[in-house]
Amino acid sequence: MNKRIGILTSGGDCPGLNAIIRAVVKCSSQKGWEVYGIPYGTDGFLRLEQHKCHSNDLKLKEHGYDIPGLLHGIDILQFLSGSILGSLSKGNTEDQAIAKTIIQGYQDLELDALIAVGGDGSLDIIYDLAQQGQWNLVAIPKTIDNDVPFTERSVGFDTAVDKVTSALYDLTFTAASHDRTMIVQVMGRNAGHLALSSGIAGGADIILIPELTPKIDLDLVTNICIHIAKLRSLGRKFALITIAEGVKNIQGEKEKYIGDYLAQQIDNISHQLCLTDKAEFCDLDTIETRATVLGHIQRSGTPSSYDRLLAAAFAKKAIDLIAEEKYNQLVVWQNGEVQIQPLDKVVSHIKQRHQLGICPSPVNADGFLVQTARSLGIYLG
Ligand code: F6P
Repeated sequence: MNKRIGILTSGGDCPGLNAIIRAVVKCSSQKGWEVYGIPYGTDGFLRLEQHKCHSNDLKLKEHGYDIPGLLHGIDILQFLSGSILGSLSKGNTEDQAIAKTIIQGYQDLELDALIAVGGDGSLDIIYDLAQQGQWNLVAIPKTIDNDVPFTERSVGFDTAVDKVTSALYDLTFTAASHDRTMIVQVMGRNAGHLALSSGIAGGADIILIPELTPKIDLDLVTNICIHIAKLRSLGRKFALITIAEGVKNIQGEKEKYIGDYLAQQIDNISHQLCLTDKAEFCDLDTIETRATVLGHIQRSGTPSSYDRLLAAAFAKKAIDLIAEEKYNQLVVWQNGEVQIQPLDKVVSHIKQRHQLGICPSPVNADGFLVQTARSLGIYLG
């Protein structure tokens, strides 16, 4: 049966969103289905009403994405980061009148189903709208933070790990040339997945993530200085530190530039340790620290092959679910393959965690990656 399906991308962008859109369009056209791209997340349904937009304007086709003379057709999308549909970090769905118009937008487009590509925050909001409007919803997880529960991987994470790893590689040479301690502040919101994975892959000496070091206190900074002193005594004069943005200051508050904050703390404590005149700390006064905030560069770039593969596999599964009319599911990556999880379970987990102010899917403090880091001699606090 011919179907009309909608797709939207919601929340912060990440590499691989366009690869998902491409794969959804390709899998759908094999079945003769039509795909409609909803611009700027659920806000697109509002704008339809405001701009009296015709549904044909939203139709996504296999053709019409050309770089003349170079590339033809929708395949170009797999290489581009961002989202051709646009995305919104903060929608306004608490206002009941707005929510009603959004819900109506789905009906006006006469959609048979909607694929929502989002992270934990978006899934929470979109699932509520879908319940109210009786939408046929299937969701695909995406985020560089990798903190969507019940999936080992979300689209975008792998590319972000590559980005940070490559920055660590680049910083190694300038750090080594000046015997400096380089601190790299990494995104991830309240989760440490990105800092941990890229720290291990990029050769960090110290990795600080909120799951293991919720805040920077004096003991932690002292131990960091001792670790750096040990490295220096072994002839390793530079050091690389990755710090997740979710790590808090000594008062337990968020700092916009937690990397800079840590640099100042290391400067202070290393100076004080040096004044103790203990032989092993004598060298510490010469430590020079520099902090780098990688920022939104981590959300850019050509999606990695792994993210493109995940995008294709998730899209295929989402289309299968719609063909079976099995809705309210999140497609997930578990034990090396695509599986599904009911959205009511996923969203109630997310809501519960958000209410407690904790990350919905943190790094496992006893997990294999943490053990790996420790086995490599990386200091984790
Ligand atoms: O959730 C993705 C993410 O990039 C986080 O890692 C980061 O804290 C946040 O979004 C940044 O949000 P914004 O793009 O709104 O500054």
